[in-house]
Amino acid sequence: MKLLLFIFPFFLNAFALPTLYEYYTSEGITEGLSANQTYFTLNGKNITIYSGTMHYFRIPPQYWRDRLRKLRAAGLNTVETYVPWNLHEPQDGVFDFGGGGTDFEAFLDVHSYLKMAQEEDLFVIVRPGPFICAEWEFGGLPSWLLKNDIMVRTSDPIYIKYVRRYFDQLLPILAKLQFTQGGPIIALQVENEYGSSPQIDLDYIKILYDYMRGYDIVELLVTSDGAGSGTSGSLPELLFQTVNFGSDPKGNFDTLRSFQPGRPIMAMEYWTGWFDHWSENHHTVSNGTFNEIYEQILTYPASVNMYMFHGGTNFGFLNGANIGPGDNSAFQPTTTSYDYDAPLAENGDYTGKYEIVKSLIKRYNPVETSTPEPPELIKRQAYSSVEIQEELNLNEIIDRVSFVKSHEALPMEKLPINNNSGQSFGYLIYRIENLDIAKSSILSIKGHVRDTVMVLINGVLISKPLSSSSDFDGFGYWKLPNSSINLTKTDLRNVTLDLVFENWGRGNFGNLYHQRKGLTQDNQVYLNDIELNSWTMFPLEFKKSWTENLTGWRKSSSTKGPGIFRAILPIENEPKDTYIDMQEWNKGIVIVNGFVVGRYAFIGPQQALYLPAPFLKQGDNEIIVFEHFQPAKQIKFSAEPIFKTP
Ligand SMILES: *[C@@H]1O[C@H](CO)[C@@H](O)[C@H](O)[C@H]1NC(C)=O
Ligand SMILES: *[C@@H]1O[C@H](CO)[C@@H](O)[C@H](O)[C@H]1NC(C)=O
Ligand SMILES: *[C@@H]1O[C@H](CO)[C@@H](O)[C@H](O)[C@H]1NC(C)=O
Ligand SMILES: *[C@@H]1O[C@H](CO)[C@@H](O)[C@H](O)[C@H]1NC(C)=O
Ligand SMILES: *[C@@H]1O[C@H](CO)[C@@H](O)[C@H](O)[C@H]1NC(C)=O
Ligand SMILES: *[C@@H]1O[C@H](CO)[C@@H](O)[C@H](O)[C@H]1NC(C)=O
Ligand SMILES: *[C@@H]1O[C@H](CO)[C@@H](O)[C@H](O)[C@H]1NC(C)=O
Ligand SMILES: *[C@@H]1O[C@H](CO)[C@@H](O)[C@H](O)[C@H]1NC(C)=O
Repeated sequence: MKLLLFIFPFFLNAFALPTLYEYYTSEGITEGLSANQTYFTLNGKNITIYSGTMHYFRIPPQYWRDRLRKLRAAGLNTVETYVPWNLHEPQDGVFDFGGGGTDFEAFLDVHSYLKMAQEEDLFVIVRPGPFICAEWEFGGLPSWLLKNDIMVRTSDPIYIKYVRRYFDQLLPILAKLQFTQGGPIIALQVENEYGSSPQIDLDYIKILYDYMRGYDIVELLVTSDGAGSGTSGSLPELLFQTVNFGSDPKGNFDTLRSFQPGRPIMAMEYWTGWFDHWSENHHTVSNGTFNEIYEQILTYPASVNMYMFHGGTNFGFLNGANIGPGDNSAFQPTTTSYDYDAPLAENGDYTGKYEIVKSLIKRYNPVETSTPEPPELIKRQAYSSVEIQEELNLNEIIDRVSFVKSHEALPMEKLPINNNSGQSFGYLIYRIENLDIAKSSILSIKGHVRDTVMVLINGVLISKPLSSSSDFDGFGYWKLPNSSINLTKTDLRNVTLDLVFENWGRGNFGNLYHQRKGLTQDNQVYLNDIELNSWTMFPLEFKKSWTENLTGWRKSSSTKGPGIFRAILPIENEPKDTYIDMQEWNKGIVIVNGFVVGRYAFIGPQQALYLPAPFLKQGDNEIIVFEHFQPAKQIKFSAEPIFKTP
């Protein structure tokens, strides 16, 4: 018996494959990822990087391990993530790297996420920005940067001062987790697609490089760009270049090789699918196309990071937007779902692409290491519909918000709130009281609206509900350089005028220099020919501390116009993942147990919001909807995502 016990484990070991870390580090660690020849080595051993992107800030923390294990089980050896400055420094000089007291605090323990990746036998590539694009609000830059007129993403000294102060917090966390320190990080990226920035200032890239090296960041530092940008956004003598693309691997890699000969070939972003803007058709990339391109990448041969391996969700108000020239005329906000048609769906399910990845890596990876069994699927449930029971109309909401008075209208970012960091997210209501409005009066807003506006007189909605995406061409939205609306057919005396502005997501790509929201210096508001001034402003941020504290609810009568509507979802057993089906509603946000799950808009393509079980609890769950126009009488649930063609 003793003998058997002794032999048995030995016998197992002799045949068991090594883990990734055993394979690369069992004889000690002497050097990190090297790109000093035509192929990568890690600690002196050949490595092809099979990486996939998963953003910790887009995944409920309770599911981080599930998603990481699924990634490793497909045979990938590396996970990649960006780091969002705007969540980690929500106010000027105030940081949250987990447990910092913000509504996102549970998502922000980046140290734990990276350690967990290592526990799951994965290496890590980190892209700390400071600008990250990522279809994320303001490309990850904090909105309080917009208090002053600074040139973000350049060597503007004020911008650099803020970058340094943030990196003083972030880089020590990352430095300790480097591969050569026994951690998982094998490479880091400097900035993001800087060759596509409208203001290329390579002094800025050098400042970032030096600052990272100054914090003992010793692992490989890279940049990533479209191949067409060439070396314009990088410093070839200091930074290893990678390319981003969705098709034609050979063309892109040949171009990369032409300007970076004698080095390994890597795609930092091979786009496995794509994201949706509101009013677009839902984007997918077929299994066949994906299979063909991924195989062409592996056989080139090249290293590759799949963007995305698992897209996740733009919870809260954190979606970004494309913006075109920057005057807001070409504004295109991204949906709440960031499913991306990736190998793992938004809800963590395996898609057709998962099996394709798994079998191609198995076929082409010459390094054999042990991988875990793919985790079982997480169960979902379509809960029974719940009735809307209570509501608060706009005036009742305003009574519960503290205000700021100012002669000139202030944009969100210049409000003296949040320790003078202004308002980052949500809505801002501009009010004028005791106004006389003659019949046939016209309200005009000069300058593009940022981003949508509802007009109310004495609490009654004057502007029209969203009926199709062609409404974006008219009053209330961003496209018109100047816009106007008829206010009344009769003479009105001593009324209250409210303009409810929505920030639908700041730009994440291109010209980022005019990203203030609400009424900005580019706007004036006129009643006929008279400029309106002396505003009372009510920031409506929907912070958890505010929402959870709401009292004085009235029995619901499905009042039209902006209002908040409340229902209770009772859950008897262990909560399950579900989708909130918002097809009967018009436009707004959904808040569950105080946390803003995200935006909905009936124009689509997204029709249902992913609601992960960890946001729910056994017992009563409070669901609150802020609806802009027309509430429904109930909230429905679905076990599956719902998309429609706008
Ligand atoms: C790669 O080359 C650079 C520059 O010659 C050198 O500083 C670095 O140590 C080398 N890296 C490795 C891992 O050998
Ligand atoms: C490492 O890869 C290179 C390029 O494919 C190859 O020439 C070399 O033999 C490999 N080294 C080992 C030890 O497998
Ligand atoms: C207010 O902001 C300053 C930096 O502008 C910061 O040092 C301070 O800690 C903040 N105070 C609070 C209470 O967050
Ligand atoms: C991709 O493959 C999966 C699994 O075979 C299948 O369910 C799915 O419908 C396929 N997708 C497309 C777009 O054909
Ligand atoms: C918008 O209004 C301003 C101020 O009245 C005017 O100067 C400008 O020409 C208008 N723009 C367009 C495109 O009509
Ligand atoms: C206001 O109403 C008049 C009369 O119905 C109409 O001619 C005009 O186009 C309207 N103006 C706006 C800005 O809607
Ligand atoms: C205007 O209405 C307010 C109440 O909203 C009232 O206190 C005030 O006396 C009214 N002013 C006039 C001139 O009617
Ligand atoms: C919650 O409500 C109470 C009483 O209405 C108020 O004193 C307190 O400031 C509120 N807290 C927040 C975070 O708004």
